[in-house]
Amino acid sequence: MAEGMGDWKRSHMCGVLRSEHIGQKVVLMGWVQRRRDHGGLIFIDLRDREGLVQLVFSQDIDVESFNKAEVIRSEYVLAITGKVISRPEGTENPSLPTGMVDVEVEEVKILNKAKTPPFYIEDGVEVDENVRLRYRYLDLRRPEMYNSMLLRHRAAKAARDFLDRNGFLEMETPMLTRSTPEGARDYLVPSRLNSGKFFALPQSPQLFKQILMVAGMDKYFQIVRCFRDEDLRADRQPEFTQIDLEMSFVDVEDVLILMEEMIQLICKETIGVVPKLPFPRISYQEAMDRFGLDKPDTRFGLEIKDISDVAKSCGFKVFNGAIENGGQVRAINAKGCGAYSRKDIDDLTAYANIYGAKGLAYFIVGPEGSIKTPITKFFTQEDLNIIVERLQGEEGDLLLFVADNSDIVAAALGNLRLHVAEKMAIIPEDKFNFVWVLDFPLLEYDQEEKRYTAKHHPFTSPREEDLDLLDSDPAAVRARAYDLVVNGMEIGGGSIRIHQRNIQEKMFNALGLSKEEADEKFGFLMEAFEYGTPPHGGIAFGLDRLVMLLAGKKSIRDVIPFPKTASATCLLTNAPDIVDDAQLKELHIKTDVKLKGTEK
Ligand code: AMO
Ligand code: AMP
Repeated sequence: MAEGMGDWKRSHMCGVLRSEHIGQKVVLMGWVQRRRDHGGLIFIDLRDREGLVQLVFSQDIDVESFNKAEVIRSEYVLAITGKVISRPEGTENPSLPTGMVDVEVEEVKILNKAKTPPFYIEDGVEVDENVRLRYRYLDLRRPEMYNSMLLRHRAAKAARDFLDRNGFLEMETPMLTRSTPEGARDYLVPSRLNSGKFFALPQSPQLFKQILMVAGMDKYFQIVRCFRDEDLRADRQPEFTQIDLEMSFVDVEDVLILMEEMIQLICKETIGVVPKLPFPRISYQEAMDRFGLDKPDTRFGLEIKDISDVAKSCGFKVFNGAIENGGQVRAINAKGCGAYSRKDIDDLTAYANIYGAKGLAYFIVGPEGSIKTPITKFFTQEDLNIIVERLQGEEGDLLLFVADNSDIVAAALGNLRLHVAEKMAIIPEDKFNFVWVLDFPLLEYDQEEKRYTAKHHPFTSPREEDLDLLDSDPAAVRARAYDLVVNGMEIGGGSIRIHQRNIQEKMFNALGLSKEEADEKFGFLMEAFEYGTPPHGGIAFGLDRLVMLLAGKKSIRDVIPFPKTASATCLLTNAPDIVDDAQLKELHIKTDVKLKGTEK
C-alpha cells in the first residue's frame, strides 16, 4: 500500500551526492532504477532527474526497511532517510558521479508502486519509437531525454535573456487568426459563434510582427509555436517552435550581426562551444554552384565543378545534347571511390534518379591520370586531362557526372554529394559549420501552378536596384533575404520587408494574386502600411532544429517533449480523434469520411 510523505522534506536530489556528503543524514525521493538482492543486503539504485545513487538496505540497520525493500520493484517511487557513507574499498564506481558513496537506509516509505515499464528506463535502449511516444512519460525519464529538455530550456533562456538585454519586447500574437494564401497548408479551427467561418492556426507570426513594427514597438520577439500542415520529416513537425523577432530601422547587416551574436551565446550557454564570428557568408548562386543546394553542408569537400565548356564539344551525345538544350554538365569527385563495384555505381545512379537525373556518367581515374570508363572514347586526351585536373582527380578517384538542366543537375549532384559523403563516412560529426546564405532570388517559378511563388514569403523586400525587374524579368529579382544554415540544415530565415503599399501590391501582382484577392486577404496589412510604417526586418529560428543540432540528435522528435508522429498524430493522447456529433452539429460541420468504428 502506498504511504504518504508525512512531514518528510527532501534534503538532496539523488544525483548530487558526492564524497563531501559522507556522514550527512539525507532525505531522498525518487524512482527505483534497479534492485539487487545480495542475501543479507539489498541494493537499490534510486533515480531522479539529477542522476542515480545507490541505497543499501541491511537487516543490521533496520529490519522493517529491509523487509519493505524485498517487495520493491523497478519504477516504484520511494522516500528514504539515511546516512551517506563511503563505499567499501574496491566497490567504488568511478563511471557514476555518485559512485564514491552509498546511502545506508534507516527508513523507507513506498510512495507509489509501478507496473513493469514496457522498456528499460536507461539511455541507448533499442525501443520502437511508437512505444516511446505512447509512454512518453517513461521515455522522458531517461537521462538523455532529460538532458535534451534541459538543453532546450537553456537555449530558450539564453535567447530570451539576450533579446531582453538588446531591447526586444516579448509580445504574444494570436493563435486564432485568419487563413492566408501562400505558404503551407493551414490548420483550421471552426468558429462556433460565426458558423461556417474558420480561424487558422498561425504558420508564423509574420504579419502580426510586422504590424507591431507599424505600431512603433521597435523590437519584438517571441518564442512561439507555429503550425503547418505539411508532410513531415525528421526535421519537420506540424507544430514547432520559432525564436521569432522583428526590428525597425534596420538593414540586412544589422540583423545578421546581432543574430550571430545570439547564436554564439546560445551555443556557449548550452554546450560550451563558442563558434567563431562573423559566420561565413555565401550567395545563393554560389551555394547552388558549389554545393547544389541552398542549404550547403560545408563540413567536407566533394564540391561540384562545371565542365560544360569541355563537354560542349565532346562526342558523347548525352553531354553535348544537354548543353545544346540549354543545360549543363557538372561533376563531383568521390575521392578514393574508384574501386566501387558496378552495383555501387548502379546504386548511386538510382539515387541521382530520385532527383531527376536521367543517368550518372562516371570516370575512374587510374595510374598517371589514365581514365577507365566506357565513354572515354568520346573525349580527346586533352579534354580528359582538363576534366581530371578540374576535379583534382587522382589515382583511385571516381568522378560522377550529371548532364541536364541547371535545376536537375544541382539537385542530383547536391544530394548525391551528401549521399556519397555519408557512404564514405567523411562528415565530421563534431563540427558546427554555420553559414549565412544571402542574395536569394525573390521569386521562383512553380512549374505545376504555372506561376511565380515567393522563395521566402510575399512580404520579403526586393533589392532596391532590382525593383524595376519585378515586371519585366521577375526571376532575376534578388531578395533582401537571408538564411542561416548549419551542417546542411536551415535553422533560420528572414528578410528585410516590404514596407510600402505600392511595392507590396506589385509583389502580389507578380505572384498572380488579383487586386481583389490581395485586398480581401491582405487588405489589413496594406492599410496599415499607409499609416507611417518604418523600414523593418527580422528573422525566425527553428528552436527545435537548433536544439536537435546542439544535442547531437538525428530527429527533432527527440528534443520536443510531446512530438507528433510522421503521420501527424499524438500516440500519447490519440489525437486527432473523432468528436461527438453534438460538437459537430454546434459547429454546423458534416464530415463525409467514414471512419472505422463510427458507422451508425
Ligand atoms: P520560415 O518558414 O523559414 O520563416 O521558418 C523559420 C525557421 O523555422 C524552422 N521551421 C521548422 N521547424 C520544424 N518544423 C517545421 N515544420 C518547420 N518549418 C520551419 C526552420 C526555419 O528556418 N516568418 C518567417 C520568418 C521571417 O521572415 O522572419 C518564417 O516563418 O528552422
Ligand atoms: P546511355 O547512353 O544511356 O547508355 O548512357 C551512357 C552512360 O551515361 C551511362 O553511364 C548513363 O548512366 C550515363 N548518362 C545517361 N544520361 C545521363 C545524364 N543525363 N547525365 C549524366 N550521365 C548520364
